[in-house]
Amino acid sequence: MSNTFHIIIFLPLLGLLKFAAGGALQLTANNFDKVVGSTELVLINFYADWCRFSNMLEPIWDEGADLVAKKLDSKRVLMAKVDCDKEDKLSSRFHITKYPTLKLIRNGHPAKKEYRGQRSAESFLKFLEEEIRDPVRFINSTEDLKEEKKGQVIGYFESPNSYSYQSFMKMASSLKDECVIIAGFGPEFRAFMPGGEDMVIVRKPSSLDDIAMPPDVPVTDTARLTDWARRTCVPLVREITFENAEELTEEGLPFLILFHLPEDTETPKRFLRVVEKDLYSEKDGIQFLTADGLTFAHPLHHLGKSKKDLPLIAIDSFRHMYVFPDIKDMEDPVKMKQFIADLHSGKLHREFHYGPQQPAAAAPAPTRDQPSTPAPTSPPESVFKKLGPSGSRYSLLKDEL
Ligand SMILES: *[C@@H]1O[C@H](CO)[C@@H](O)[C@H](O)[C@H]1NC(C)=O
Repeated sequence: MSNTFHIIIFLPLLGLLKFAAGGALQLTANNFDKVVGSTELVLINFYADWCRFSNMLEPIWDEGADLVAKKLDSKRVLMAKVDCDKEDKLSSRFHITKYPTLKLIRNGHPAKKEYRGQRSAESFLKFLEEEIRDPVRFINSTEDLKEEKKGQVIGYFESPNSYSYQSFMKMASSLKDECVIIAGFGPEFRAFMPGGEDMVIVRKPSSLDDIAMPPDVPVTDTARLTDWARRTCVPLVREITFENAEELTEEGLPFLILFHLPEDTETPKRFLRVVEKDLYSEKDGIQFLTADGLTFAHPLHHLGKSKKDLPLIAIDSFRHMYVFPDIKDMEDPVKMKQFIADLHSGKLHREFHYGPQQPAAAAPAPTRDQPSTPAPTSPPESVFKKLGPSGSRYSLLKDEL
């Protein structure tokens, strides 16, 4: 049954032989959006043929794909691969900087965490089994609600057999890594359902105030429900401390950090407003953080900065650190966005090695005394990667080529 489904959908793209051979599904610019858009979970290996770690992984990945196809519902979950040399656009769209990178795409959106577990067919299967499990926790009364470290999205429904609960489940599948998702059904919860309408609220970790979904967002509108729940439950800007640094590092996204003096409470508020207003669209590619500049004096020192230079903004890419040129430009969305874009494009890194790029026409002709390319220098190394989990991963960074 499920094979029939696949052959019909993919035959024109793949050819029967490739499919019959099994293994991970090859994704290209042509079939990518169609596949990830119609499959709940796609675990993708972004590889490069010349990379020995990619080559080592390949047979194990294909074995995993076959195992997953056998054990799980292939309409909901599958393993795939992208050849990054051939698929430039896909590779840059997902900010691939090392091979192989193993990413989970859920309902068309990249999950925050990369796959960092063991590289064996059994482990891939276990991981996907865990990921596909019902992400909603059920309660019988509000007494069952507990304090959680993460934000909670709580839905009260007349019945589980409703369009609004179906929509809630889809939202839950998208947000399950970032929030705790809870549902209650029936008469016990009527008190929380004004006018008898199904109701969704968000409870933030250190706050007793529940935030109710605005009446103009219908629960049945999955996209708007998900967007509202994500914005409300997941803090866009978090404070990094020594306690949570490892967890934050594990998410694998580079950090954009505001370092500030502990007594300066004004700049973090301004920073939050800037992120909410101008940088929301960047959140899948970077993590917004604040840090006490005295606690984290070491990374500042590393950048050649000290207490007197606070506040300042820097990026830690987990390879290198880069300082935002002038904190006074923090509220200029064009400059902040450009700073982030330059990280993703590799421009920040190139400039550190070779100086700012000159427009071709304006570049002075090289002379004997003044070569056009300055001697390479190196940006300060990442400090925060050392706070990350000691990796048992083997990947090749683009820079190590
Ligand atoms: C709710 O009630 C069911 C059936 O009595 C029970 O199995 C379940 O553990 C209860 N859930 C909670 C969160 O207490």
